[in-house]
Amino acid sequence: MTILLIGGTGKTAVRLARFLQNNNHQFLLASRRGQSAAPAGMPAVRFDWMDKASWKEAFKYRSAAGEDVRAIYLMEPLVAEPWKPMNEFIDYARQEQGVGRFVLVAGTSSQPGKPGMGMVWQHFMDTGVDYAVLRPSWFMENLSEEAPSGLIKDLSRIFTACGEGKIPFVSATDIAAVAYRALTDAKPHNCDHRILGPELLTYDGIAQKLSIALGREIQHVSLSGEDRYQSLVTAGVSAYYARLLTNLEAAAAMGFEAHLNDEVEKVTGRPPKTFDVFAQENRAHWI
Ligand SMILES: NC(=O)c1ccc[n+]([C@@H]2O[C@H](COP(=O)([O-])OP(=O)(O)OC[C@H]3O[C@@H](n4cnc5c(N)ncnc54)[C@H](OP(=O)(O)O)[C@@H]3O)[C@@H](O)[C@H]2O)c1
Repeated sequence: MTILLIGGTGKTAVRLARFLQNNNHQFLLASRRGQSAAPAGMPAVRFDWMDKASWKEAFKYRSAAGEDVRAIYLMEPLVAEPWKPMNEFIDYARQEQGVGRFVLVAGTSSQPGKPGMGMVWQHFMDTGVDYAVLRPSWFMENLSEEAPSGLIKDLSRIFTACGEGKIPFVSATDIAAVAYRALTDAKPHNCDHRILGPELLTYDGIAQKLSIALGREIQHVSLSGEDRYQSLVTAGVSAYYARLLTNLEAAAAMGFEAHLNDEVEKVTGRPPKTFDVFAQENRAHWI
């Protein structure tokens, strides 16, 4: 079978594609930019959640081995009520294209039936299709994305509204490793996986670890929710996403993310990456 990876240029899907490639599974990346956005040597197709005409393109693809798309990795677009196009696409893929398994990336707070990715999760259960819902904590890789890494590089500062809230930061590689198992295990998982990193860290703790890794002082600047929202909007972030991010940070400040478990090791057979290792591997982003 071929596995279609929506969000194919994103942090988790590119890593998932490497796992699939290394283990000789057929896959196809989906991006609004099509093949031009794909890493070298990886097949890609144009796909846009908001353009239904693009949905069928992925199913026209047949891998060199002649295998059709039978499983899909999915994540939401940043639009209002994203579950509406997603559930319509899932029905199309299931009923008209013979897709039998879906693995969805959702947020920490997702619950079946709850507006957001909970509506897609509920749809999996209602239709009886094979599925897994990944509920990762915050990605370590957020810190190596362009905007935060630029602030660390230029100002040696991290700005959040997380206060002293503890977060079990997890590597996108570990999320991809769980997704890999959920997509390729012979037995479908048909459950959610709460994917957490190995330790609870505050942003002050993250700043300390980065200071050690980089050999210069990195400071965490703790902002109020309103100041954080305004700074994001001033930096060009959409009001919708700025509010979403600020609300997530405010919840983390109240301890919403402060949990640990052994899910990564249980599913993949090895413990999740530590932040110290991540910081060493990614020093170049902040220098
Ligand atoms: N970051 C975190 O800390 C965190 C924590 C928990 C859960 N999550 C969840 O994880 C998911 C993000 O995963 P990720 O980090 O692997 O992805 P990502 O790096 O944020 O990339 C998102 C991808 O979605 C694609 N995309 C955006 N709009 C699209 C559209 N209209 N149609 C088709 N593709 C579209 C983009 O590709 P193109 O631009 O190439 O089209 C991009 O590859 C989100 O659902 C988020 O809620 C994130």
